Amino acid sequence: MPVGTGVLGQPAAAGRVFDLSGRVAIVTGAAHGIGLGVSEVFAEAGATVVCADIDGDAAAAASRAITDAGGSAKPATVDVSRREQVRALVRSVVAEHGRLDVMCNNAGIIVEAPVLELSEEQFDRVLAVNLKGLLFGCQEAGAVMRGQQAGSIINMASAAADTAPPGLVAYSVSKAGAVQITRTLAKELGPEGVRVNAVAPGLVETTITRRHYTNQDGTINEDNRATFLARGRDVAPLRRIGTPADIGYAALYLASDASRFVTGQVLRPNGGTSMP
Ligand SMILES: NC(=O)c1ccc[n+]([C@@H]2O[C@H](COP(=O)([O-])OP(=O)(O)OC[C@H]3O[C@@H](n4cnc5c(N)ncnc54)[C@H](O)[C@@H]3O)[C@@H](O)[C@H]2O)c1
Repeated sequence: MPVGTGVLGQPAAAGRVFDLSGRVAIVTGAAHGIGLGVSEVFAEAGATVVCADIDGDAAAAASRAITDAGGSAKPATVDVSRREQVRALVRSVVAEHGRLDVMCNNAGIIVEAPVLELSEEQFDRVLAVNLKGLLFGCQEAGAVMRGQQAGSIINMASAAADTAPPGLVAYSVSKAGAVQITRTLAKELGPEGVRVNAVAPGLVETTITRRHYTNQDGTINEDNRATFLARGRDVAPLRRIGTPADIGYAALYLASDASRFVTGQVLRPNGGTSMP
């Protein structure tokens, strides 16, 4: 018998700790981009995934794509900036499934404006979704998980929380705030068996990045797109930008028992772009 972890000699154990079979997960902002990637990876790992989004039709399409591929998913319509809608979402999931194991607060928006030009309305809008929406998700899921004495909350932050890019002050404030909510809640709920962590992705091409290469008439400028993506690749030591699945696998680690001793941390799937 080897001295140490007890995992040696049990080759299947390391595989099993990533298994989400029988677990119930909510992913917000699940209709597109990173949220869709997280939902697909969770479903691939065996979870029942509630794909929640403000765009109800797209959430239904995301859920259908997962079930068509053999996974277990359900759609839900939610505006995360409305506390009563987040509460209703969490309550309906618990009423149907009897539990909530994973809450991924992923929904987010971006507004680009230099500090001196940022309007109060723009600032409020970004914080309402990215920060208050995330807080509501933490509060509603956290209360359920405290009752269960188990659960994992995953908050979608951003490299912007560390790097403070010019023109993105509302966004980076919201993401730095998301990290502080994560750390505070990890301390408050750790003794209750609930883990709370953040994922801070680097660049992933989604609707959020389109503003960099969209013409005034709404069409994509392919030259600008190629330049933008090449710049993103060049600054990454791994020489590529991320995919939604790359972020999904980071979230899977935090959702699963593989991270059972991890809380209050920020995991940075970013190709090495920033190393704070
Ligand atoms: N794409 C990147 O490079 C990148 C990098 C770092 C962090 N992020 C973060 O990842 C998350 C997902 O972004 P993405 O890039 O996939 O963008 P995306 O625009 O493709 O997806 C965002 C999703 O959130 C939904 N949404 C927006 N407002 C909502 C609301 N009020 N309630 C519920 N759903 C709402 C949208 O309908 C959409 O489906 C965001 O939190 C974003 O800040 C993205």
